[in-house]
Amino acid sequence: MRLLERRNAIQNLLFFIRWKLWLVILSAPGHLAFALRGWGDARAGIWRRLRLAWRLIRIHLSLQCAHSPMELLTIVEEVLRVPPSVDGVVVECGCYLGGSSAKLSLAVELAGRRLIVCDSFEGLPETSAADDLPGADPFRPGDFAVRLDLVRENVRRWGSLSVVEFVPGWFQDTLPRLNGQRIACAFLDVDLQESIRTCIEHLWKGVQPGCRVFVHDADRPPVIEPFEDATWWQRRFNTPPPSFVGARRGLGPLRRLLGFAIKAES
Ligand SMILES: C[S@@+](CC[C@H](N)C(=O)[O-])C[C@H]1O[C@@H](n2cnc3c(N)ncnc32)[C@H](O)[C@@H]1O
Repeated sequence: MRLLERRNAIQNLLFFIRWKLWLVILSAPGHLAFALRGWGDARAGIWRRLRLAWRLIRIHLSLQCAHSPMELLTIVEEVLRVPPSVDGVVVECGCYLGGSSAKLSLAVELAGRRLIVCDSFEGLPETSAADDLPGADPFRPGDFAVRLDLVRENVRRWGSLSVVEFVPGWFQDTLPRLNGQRIACAFLDVDLQESIRTCIEHLWKGVQPGCRVFVHDADRPPVIEPFEDATWWQRRFNTPPPSFVGARRGLGPLRRLLGFAIKAES
């Protein structure tokens, strides 16, 4: 029994070193560069960014996160880039344990905005054949289920709860409430094709010109296809699909799963 416990502890330590510490070490130069880019920024200067970068790293080491440190840092930087003259909230769809929400809440607080976090808090809904990829483990209903009170506690402990509003429930029921809401930045990390489609359907109109919608798992065709479906975009929004950066390839070695769509300037 004790041998088994010791083996489990060693396995956990190896997992921590391989997937967390190593990624954090690799992303340290990126976080430093992020802080230095605060030179001359009155709202988010070097010291504020250094403190923020340190807190982002601490969150990554303390909570299980389904993203890489550089992926979330990229979104944090975008939240700080959007000028205050652009009205709008930041929306996160799909929060799991709240690691990404806690990180985003810190950036949103610095930017003087609000963060709306939408999730079922019951994990993934039913999947469809469109979500299956040959050779990959299929998603199952209930994957990533975490109760709202635990997510709220994680955000309270590691982030800034006062700027966050939680919207619990299935997207098809909850996101219509955001119709008309102005959005300065969004992060969709929802794994399934139908979930992505629902998010675009209800959020896209509110995304402000020049602002970005980040998408996790941009390497997975089922997640990207709704962004490329010209017939659907024409029917739904009377426009061609938006330009999408990072489709199927991500944004580079430490941001392999991240991509973003840009709302054209009108
Ligand atoms: C991969 S997890 C999010 C990971 C998190 N952003 C992170 O970086 O740690 C996907 C989340 O999407 C949520 N989700 C997916 N489809 C949904 C739907 N149709 N309605 C509500 N929640 C959904 C799941 O509950 C789950 O928490």
